[in-house]
Amino acid sequence: MLVAMTQWLTLSRAAHLLGISRVALQKRIRDGELPSFDGMVDADQLQRAWPQLDLDDSGSFEKTRAIREDAFAKRLRERVLPSQEALAQRVFAQSQELAELQRTLTRYHRLIDDLRLRLESLPPSLAGNLGALVDEGLAEAISLPPPAEDLRALDAMLRVMSAHVTVKPSGREFFVEGSETLLKAALRAGLAPNYGCGNGNCGLCKARVVAGEARAVAPSDYRFSEAEKAQNHVLMCTCTVHSSDLVLEVLEAGLPEDIPEQRIVTKLRAVDMLPDDVLRLHLQTPRSNRLRFLAGQRVTLGLPAGVASASDLHAELPVASCPCDDRNLIFHVRRPASADFQDGGSGALAAALFAGGIKPGAEVSVWGPWGRFVLERESARPLVFIAIDEGFAPINSLIEHAIAVDAAESITLYWAASRPDGQYLPNQCRAWAAALDEFHYRPVDLAALDGALASDEGVKGADIYLAGPARLVDGLAQVMLARGLPAAQLHVEAL
Ligand code: FES
Repeated sequence: MLVAMTQWLTLSRAAHLLGISRVALQKRIRDGELPSFDGMVDADQLQRAWPQLDLDDSGSFEKTRAIREDAFAKRLRERVLPSQEALAQRVFAQSQELAELQRTLTRYHRLIDDLRLRLESLPPSLAGNLGALVDEGLAEAISLPPPAEDLRALDAMLRVMSAHVTVKPSGREFFVEGSETLLKAALRAGLAPNYGCGNGNCGLCKARVVAGEARAVAPSDYRFSEAEKAQNHVLMCTCTVHSSDLVLEVLEAGLPEDIPEQRIVTKLRAVDMLPDDVLRLHLQTPRSNRLRFLAGQRVTLGLPAGVASASDLHAELPVASCPCDDRNLIFHVRRPASADFQDGGSGALAAALFAGGIKPGAEVSVWGPWGRFVLERESARPLVFIAIDEGFAPINSLIEHAIAVDAAESITLYWAASRPDGQYLPNQCRAWAAALDEFHYRPVDLAALDGALASDEGVKGADIYLAGPARLVDGLAQVMLARGLPAAQLHVEAL
């Protein structure tokens, strides 16, 4: 009998290879379509489960990746190769694996030859046709088409090009592309590691290398203690991975209270007018002082004295972008009703923005983050997001994060607008639905929202994230609870 050499892949690596989400893979395993062992899948069985997969046509992979990277700013799309040293080290590690495989194969060959000789030396009455059976079995095994050949080749290539990191104690995994830092790669994957300055000064992003090798790619002024050096501590913001695999012990934020309050002076980069009287505000933090927050949280924006005639204006707004890009912060601001103009708060700040009194280049203070409207980390339920009007802002942040971390088997977005065509970013929602099999986009008029939710069988079993003007979301939340939705599954952000 020929002993098959199984190539085991972790679910994250398998999903990375196929360009699908990890939850899609887990669903196939749960449905019995793909066997798994101890959280691993066999490369051959994986390719059998996706026979239609054309590895040369990486369209789905690219689409999914593009969506994730849109959340992380275009600069990361300009990929750079890992350093020559890292490439050499990873190729060397693969050569060692290959040499070990060749040694194993040689031993099998010798075993077969030895077996054949022993069979030949036996009297025909004992040997029977065993020799012929061995030869036939071998010929059959050798002639089998190699079903996972492409997958194995792709896996070998990816191991060289992008390193795989396992985080302790959470068990989360992420991939480091090129020579990007561990911190950037972790944020892109939706992790919330502890960090501060982002440029090697504060030491808050310290992590311990448990296995593998990390090396600095940027300078740092931070000085490790002797004990930290002995324990293999590195700075995630200045180091990348040299080996193909790395195991890292990281302090991660799980709850809003794990994130400290910050105060940052940002620059207004752009103000774009979207449909339905909504402005999109793009603020950029300094490189060395980025905003750490969880998807779905709010911050306070303030204009320093002396900016136009708008001193002392401030407003608390949800961040519409993903924490995976901690430098570029996006906000959605609706034109205020005239009664709100003089309230000295969010209405007055919005009025100043709409009046064009705050120009790109202006300084805007940001402090926070605030709020608990964040994804439940431990829940495995499907996700239903309900945005009413500009309640889409925090929902957008949550969706980008949910996509980055493969948070759920299915995501449904209801976007209810109080005005006709009030969904001011419809193309973005349609792009999610087009690229992700399990993403469903349902734009509705506000008047039709309750009926649509009542007739959706999936709502009761899902985690619901509802955001919008307070006068609208509070009533809807009460209706949903009265209809039997468990309170623990309902998360509300009243703006
Ligand atoms: S975040 Fe400050 S040193 Fe890394």
